[in-house]
Amino acid sequence: MGAIFQSLGRTISAGVVILIVIALVAGTFGKMGEYAWWTFFMRWLHVLTGIMWIGLLWYFNFVQTPSMPKIPDEQKPAITKVIAPEALFWFRWAALATVVTGLILAHMNGYLGKALSLSAPFHAIGVGMWLALVMAFNVWFIIWPNQKKALGIVQVDADAKAKAARMAMLTSRFNTMLSIPMLYCMVAQQNSGL
Ligand code: HEM
Repeated sequence: MGAIFQSLGRTISAGVVILIVIALVAGTFGKMGEYAWWTFFMRWLHVLTGIMWIGLLWYFNFVQTPSMPKIPDEQKPAITKVIAPEALFWFRWAALATVVTGLILAHMNGYLGKALSLSAPFHAIGVGMWLALVMAFNVWFIIWPNQKKALGIVQVDADAKAKAARMAMLTSRFNTMLSIPMLYCMVAQQNSGL
């Protein structure tokens, strides 16, 4: 058991094995010829990547940013040089994967264009998709470029570095705000609507 949990790769593989066992017992593999099953599978992939993205967004906003002022200056590089770059790697690629799986899912559901044009009865998912697209744009074109300057991955002077850190922080807060209605809209389409 210990050998599994000492490696992240083996831990994830163990999760997949448990899933396969559950699918075997439930007879899920028999449904793999059906279109509806693949839509369901894409929905699962989408929620998985979305949790990775929004989980890290909330980690930054609920944990890392509020903790920075409490960390002594000589220990801050542990965050800025090691933890933040690693977290940002998973953060931005999870954002992209969520957009891709979400768009494929909407296409498989047959309402991609209708949702993006906010046509009835796809208002809920349409609004959710637009909110999430704005958030993903912010990740790739505002937060990440500014974080590169703030973390010293791209060299700039001290003034530009401070401005970049503030812009990244404010945009990240903006995304945290949008994540609340975005998630409501995501789950609303299948349930109560808006
Ligand atoms: C641009 C990005 C996104 C697009 C295009 C997108 C698209 C979609 C679509 C088409 C659905 C299916 C709705 C339905 O018919 O029930 C959906 C559901 C969902 N999405 Fe997203 N989404 C995006 C971002 C996100 C993010 C960031 C999260 C965060 C976790 C998320 C979480 C969910 C959840 C939990 C569901 C409900 C699944 C269910 O009820 O079975 N989505 N999304």
